[in-house]
Amino acid sequence: MRIDILTVLPELLESPFNYSIVKRAKQKELVEIFIHNIRDFSTDKHKRTDDYAFSKGAGMIMTIQPIESVIEHLRSQRDYDEIIYTTPDGETFNQRTANELSTKGNIIILCGHYKGVDQRIRDHFITKEISIGDYVLSGGEIAAAVMVDSIVRLIPGVLSDETSALTDSFQDDLLSHPVYTRPADYKGWKVPDILLNGNDKQIDDWKEEQAYEITKKRRPDLLKNK
Ligand code: ADE
Repeated sequence: MRIDILTVLPELLESPFNYSIVKRAKQKELVEIFIHNIRDFSTDKHKRTDDYAFSKGAGMIMTIQPIESVIEHLRSQRDYDEIIYTTPDGETFNQRTANELSTKGNIIILCGHYKGVDQRIRDHFITKEISIGDYVLSGGEIAAAVMVDSIVRLIPGVLSDETSALTDSFQDDLLSHPVYTRPADYKGWKVPDILLNGNDKQIDDWKEEQAYEITKKRRPDLLKNK
């Protein structure tokens, strides 16, 4: 998979993809991530990428030209399955969206900034508009990092034990069951006996029951999908 991220703040995206699972996915050549500075494509003599909104007092808007140039530059080299725009008024990102996007070949993510992008970019290039939640960030970079992190770990072969992605919270509309490691007794805080009895069937049933109970208590809305 190839992910191209378009941003006016490339520095903000320097480190999120250089650690842990995403770093390993890049090393295994299962994903390539490229960060493009929109400013580099501006034909303005001051390399500006924003301008005043036509409506008074609406703040600064990302202009069409540099974004069109970088998208056309990328599209002249390969086809893209999705051109995503990060924006608080997009559809809410969830595990289903991450699963779907992890099956794509090439995607572009345009990070929104200021008061947003000129609507004509949305009308003519964007295929999907995504929000990571009902709150407003200073820009779309952190939203892009969140999305990329959750997508990359789902690409087959990225996690050494593939079942560990399949048993993630949300993957089957259930939250995760509690997990424990050694010691079995820490100052009297004991691991549930059932996990020590060696009966795999009983342990699996316990995990399922716990996941269901935790979901019912914390996120009953998820059970409506079942
Ligand atoms: N840009 C600003 N807020 C955002 C959000 N919640 N999701 C995606 N992009 C954003």
